[in-house]
Amino acid sequence: MGIFYDKELNLFHLKGKDTSYVMQIIRDGYLAHRYWGKLVNEFSEESITYMYRPFSPNPDKTDRKFSLDTLPQEYPQYGNSDFRMPAYQVQLQDGSTISDLRYHSHLIMKGKPQLQGLPATYVDEAEDAETLVITLEDKHIGLKVKLTYTVFHQLNVFTRSTLFINEGKKSFKLLRALSMSIDYSDCEFDLLHLYGAHAKERFLSRHPLKPGIQAIGSVRGTSSHQHNPFLALVRKEANELSGEVFAFHLVYSGNFLAAAEVDQFQTTRVTMGIHPFDFTWLLHPKETFQTPETVLVYSSEGLGAMSRTFHQLYLKYLMRGKYKDRIRPIVFNNWEATYFRFNSQRLWKLAKVASEIGIELFVLDDGWFGKRNNAKTSLGDWVVNMEKIPEGLDGFARKIGSLGLQFGLWVEPEMVSVDSELYRQHSDWVLHVPNRPRTESRNQLILDLSRRDVQDEIINQMTKLFNSAPISYVKWDMNRHMTEIGSACLPPERQRETAHRYMLGLYRVLSVLTNRFPDILFENCSGGGGRFDPGMLYYMPQTWTSDNTDAISRLKIQYGTSFVYPIISIGSHVSNVPNHQVGRITSLDIRGAVAMSGNLGYELDLTKLSKTEIDTIKEQIGKYKWIRRLIQFGEFYRLLSPFEGNEAAWLFVNQEKTEAIVFYFYILAEPAAPIKFLKLCGLSRRKQYQIVGSSKRYGGDELMNIGLAIPADVKGDFQSFTWYLREVT
Ligand code: DGJ
Repeated sequence: MGIFYDKELNLFHLKGKDTSYVMQIIRDGYLAHRYWGKLVNEFSEESITYMYRPFSPNPDKTDRKFSLDTLPQEYPQYGNSDFRMPAYQVQLQDGSTISDLRYHSHLIMKGKPQLQGLPATYVDEAEDAETLVITLEDKHIGLKVKLTYTVFHQLNVFTRSTLFINEGKKSFKLLRALSMSIDYSDCEFDLLHLYGAHAKERFLSRHPLKPGIQAIGSVRGTSSHQHNPFLALVRKEANELSGEVFAFHLVYSGNFLAAAEVDQFQTTRVTMGIHPFDFTWLLHPKETFQTPETVLVYSSEGLGAMSRTFHQLYLKYLMRGKYKDRIRPIVFNNWEATYFRFNSQRLWKLAKVASEIGIELFVLDDGWFGKRNNAKTSLGDWVVNMEKIPEGLDGFARKIGSLGLQFGLWVEPEMVSVDSELYRQHSDWVLHVPNRPRTESRNQLILDLSRRDVQDEIINQMTKLFNSAPISYVKWDMNRHMTEIGSACLPPERQRETAHRYMLGLYRVLSVLTNRFPDILFENCSGGGGRFDPGMLYYMPQTWTSDNTDAISRLKIQYGTSFVYPIISIGSHVSNVPNHQVGRITSLDIRGAVAMSGNLGYELDLTKLSKTEIDTIKEQIGKYKWIRRLIQFGEFYRLLSPFEGNEAAWLFVNQEKTEAIVFYFYILAEPAAPIKFLKLCGLSRRKQYQIVGSSKRYGGDELMNIGLAIPADVKGDFQSFTWYLREVT
């Protein structure tokens, strides 16, 4: 494990746990990509195979076989013979857009340096990782580009990011500055990504690569509900348990592009980074530009192992703070119980029931401040509405505390309502373009976080608020996408920097606040899972997964989300029926089982439930407390995909493989249904397991090869079954 440099071959060999990544400096300093895949001890193939290709120009006129157009590269450029998607492009003052990067130097170091101003994976112990920085240079313009690669010794993970430095005498513009690029010698892959919409996030899409560019991305100003900044190339035969997977995930919460290009010779180029659309960055002499980080995960054991690698990486090397490795409290959130229609008496009644049934944290959602009795007003005026809550926030939070509950609060600090004191005083503080209408969405505008004064105002507002009451948890919401992306503070030539400067501003605000309030558990939210990305996960260790709380919809949403995000980060609540988003009626049992498969909470009017329902919820909460360490910190195995049929199933197992919990969901009742067995995964073949609550015992090998019999005599739609397995010695 580690990073090895072969001086003779000018070859860099990065070795992760079971994976190798190889690059080579060739000819006059081009950085070529040689290999990424299963670990090899030695990489001895000295030279790349070249072939003469008509219409692929030759930078070296004495060699008609050599062209950048056919060379597998690490950070390709445009304009001097490569016609595929470039990783970057500059524009000089004379208008030209050509540059030429060659090897300058490299450095290998222990550990992993931080990325300035951006969230990124990190290591606490330098021994856990090693980093290689390769500096490329365009001497003609004084551009240096540092490509940073980190190897995580215990995982099949590399990370990559890129730093641009203007060491020349003249300014130039970056027109495109992606985080990474990689070339594969073939195109025998499926492309896998996670797409969706509000209330339908992270659905799976898998289809064969085809010739040309296929891309996903966001130009909405956030990572978005529509596409997650994730893409994987999956070998055609690969499934949950076997086969090669190459996955890419961008640690960023704004506009992004993730693309795969299959060229004329059936090679594939994958690129990922900030979306170049409506982006430029002016670099004056001595200035630098840092791209976000991309995480690269390799799996030779299918998609399940890919996901578990992401989970381990994010649990250990991305999430931060006190809650990173603590079990998370069970919340009650009043949103679907009351929406804006509440006062402290109504909340008090809910809180009393919540405390009686074992809830640990009471979250006061939208509507507690200003004149906020609907979504049209008061964002930006973060002062408690004394008509609704006459005790004030402090008084009310203490009352909640007297019930033995922690108190949590909803905020949406990046936004402002037109009807607010803040907007009346500072109408230039929003993203806007002079003399153009300001497009509203959910009746709100977006504060211009690219501005330092706006960032400071949010930091001050939130500091005052979080200090004003015993607040243990904050739900940080963001309920619209960006339009008229312009800033009153930036000169014309920097207007196209606004969206990225917004993200840098947001990250500064989050960094200050999460450091200033280390005891607050922050939950990320953007109309549900509209900004569920590793950038936000760095600051906030859990996310409200979706505004869709229907258990059946959630099967797909949570299944898709589990592809990259640890289960502990997936907020999932039991809500009322008929479900408020889709109108479906499901049993409390299946709602509980789905919500328990993540970070459990309740979000319904507890005062209107029958005694039987309350007893069922009490039981669920008791059970979750018993199993939550396993759910939140166990290894996760997907067993049946709701995208492929009428069932879904998954399993959590602890590291020692002595305990496991299995969830099975049967969606629509079928006549003449076959008798079914659910094959498990991730257990020990040699261990014996007993189903808790029954005397039944099975060998791990039996459970994995034959499976558990699914009860056959159950009727009706939307059934769920859980089995808790324990080793018997
Ligand atoms: C969107 C969130 O996703 C909901 O849970 C809720 O907090 C509303 N915003 C409140 O406006």
